[in-house]
Amino acid sequence: MKKLGFIYDESLNISEKTTPEYYECVKDLLESEEVQSLATFPQHDFIDRLRHVVSVSYISYCLCKERSLDYRTAARAGLLHDLYYYDWHENDWSHRPHGYRHPGFAVKNAAELCGGELDKLTFNIIKRHMWPLTVIPPKYKESYIVCFADKYCARKEYQACKEQKRTKK
Ligand SMILES: [Fe+2]
Ligand SMILES: [Fe+2]
Repeated sequence: MKKLGFIYDESLNISEKTTPEYYECVKDLLESEEVQSLATFPQHDFIDRLRHVVSVSYISYCLCKERSLDYRTAARAGLLHDLYYYDWHENDWSHRPHGYRHPGFAVKNAAELCGGELDKLTFNIIKRHMWPLTVIPPKYKESYIVCFADKYCARKEYQACKEQKRTKK
């Protein structure tokens, strides 16, 4: 089993060549204009949202694959879990309180992108990824894995920014 830190580092270098099996699972979504537009929004400090969702998606894919779970759906839902088109740092009450509301926005945008209703697993992964902030817990193992990967990546992203700022001093 690969170490989590190693998987995270791999997630920073996703391509058709470096991670072909993973790429095949998410290719259509990853290359869509909607998902690519996430690169224009900051997520954690100066890490952009596209990098964040790719890391969450790739880690979820690897962890689910190791456990013989539905890795394809986890990878795809991981990529869509923060699919909202605004900068959450802005003081705009149309999307606040952000932590509670954005899973709902992401579900709606993901359904639009996927051309209809989401399957139960995808819906649950996206809708419950902020647990335990949002009180209803995830229903499936894959949802817990994405929920965990999200928090793990957020920590790694803040850490990376902190280190980069320190070395620049
Ligand atoms: Fe989120
Ligand atoms: Fe996230």
